[in-house]
Order: sequence, then C-alpha cells, then structure tokens
Amino acid sequence: MKGIYIILSFAFVTATVSCNEVKRKPSNIYMPDMAYSRAYETYADRDSSIFTADESERGTKIFYNNRPVDGTVARGEEMPFHIAKDANGDTTNYHASKMVVSPIQSLSETELIEAERLYLINCGICHGSNLDGNGPLYKGGDGPYAAKPATLVGDVKYETMPEGQMFYSVAYGKGQMGSYASQLSRKQRWQVIAYIKHKQKEAKVDTAPAAVAKAN
Ligand code: HEC
Repeated sequence: MKGIYIILSFAFVTATVSCNEVKRKPSNIYMPDMAYSRAYETYADRDSSIFTADESERGTKIFYNNRPVDGTVARGEEMPFHIAKDANGDTTNYHASKMVVSPIQSLSETELIEAERLYLINCGICHGSNLDGNGPLYKGGDGPYAAKPATLVGDVKYETMPEGQMFYSVAYGKGQMGSYASQLSRKQRWQVIAYIKHKQKEAKVDTAPAAVAKAN
C-alpha cells in the first residue's frame, strides 16, 4: 500500500515538473552532434554549420560539410593537392592543374572494384553507370538536373583531359557540379579518376577492332 503512495506522489511530481514552461532556447548545448542531426547536404558550404555565433540561428542550420584541418595528412592519405582553387572568373590554376600527375597510376583488381563502387555512389547518378554523361538525374534532359554532365567515355574532350585537371574539378567543383572534397578523400578522388581513365582505355580497346574492320 505504501508503495502505491510513493509511486503516485512520484508521478504527481513528475507531471508537475514536466508541465513547466518548455525551454525552447537552451543556453548551452552539450554535444550538439547529439542535439541536431548532421544531415549531409552536398552543396552546403562550410560556413553554414550548426556552430553559428548568432544565437537566434542556433539549431536552424544543420548542414555539415567539415573537412580535415588544413595542412594535416591522415594516415594512408595521399599528399595534398598543391594547386589552390582559382578566384572567381580566373582559370589560371584550372589550367595549371593539367601538369599534376596522379599518384595512382594503376589499380589492382580489388582497388578497381572499390573505385567503381565509389564512382557509382558519387558520380553515376549524373555521369551514368557506363560513364556516358546520361545518368538518371539527367536522363537526356528529361531528368530533374538541367545541366548536362560530362560524357566521360565517348567524348574526346574528356578522354584527353589530364587526370590532374579532372582532380581539380572533382575537388573544387566545375560549373553546376559541386565539390566532392568532403565526400571523398584525396586518395578516393584519385582512385575514381583512375577508374574513369581505365574505363576510357577499355572503351578504346573495345572499339578499335570495329574501326579497323570499317577501314578494311
Ligand atoms: C549532380 C550531378 C553530378 C555529379 C553527382 C557529378 N558530376 Fe561531374 N559533372 C557534372 C556536370 C553538370 C559537369 C559539367 C560541368 C561544366 O562543364 O560546366 C560535370 C563535369 C565533370 C568533369 C569534367 C570537368 C571539367 O573540368 O570539365 C569531370 C572529370 C567530372 N564531372 C567527374 C565527376 C566525378 C569523378 C564525380 C563523382 C565523384 C562527379 N563528376 C559527380 C555533374 C555531376
């Protein structure tokens, strides 16, 4: 019997306390990662993080696009790309990036499978699973994405594009394509580019006999 009174009074106290005014603006957030979901927004920039100084905006911005601290190199990661992003309207560094040689010149069979996986997750939706620049987001112009993605296999412009320049575009973005620097490590970006180069070579080998047959 006594137990029931204790439980009832405990429930009463809880109900009274929880009916107090709801605190909508906590003064300090302990572990904001847990308070707000860290939604991955591809094109959100780094400044629109939840850690905003403006109190009124706290919690309204849930983008997360954090990158490793500048100048640090993670274990197993490739060395930093020494070419900086061009200022708006400038293309000097974009052209200079042609000279950068990829640290990944060939992929083992397992690396190729991994690079293909990364490509299909991050790039295939626009560039197409067979790299024809016609992924489901573009769908020959009928898709929701209006900009034509580069035809990575089948267009000489991209087949002759140096890997360093591809890296520049994947790291900093190009036209309507955003940067992939926060989604893929440098090593993964170079791997995906090696995969593209591999597919371009493969397509050349496939079409070469047909071309010879035509010439005869
Ligand atoms: C949301 C769609 C989209 C996704 C996803 C995407 N791209 Fe692109 N990509 C584009 C568009 C559009 C262009 C053409 C940009 C231009 O020339 O203005 C392009 C261009 C390129 C180019 C040519 C860049 C140049 O300098 O002309 C390369 C290389 C490329 N993409 C590689 C990738 C890789 C690798 C990935 C995955 C990590 C990827 N893209 C993901 C839309 C996309």
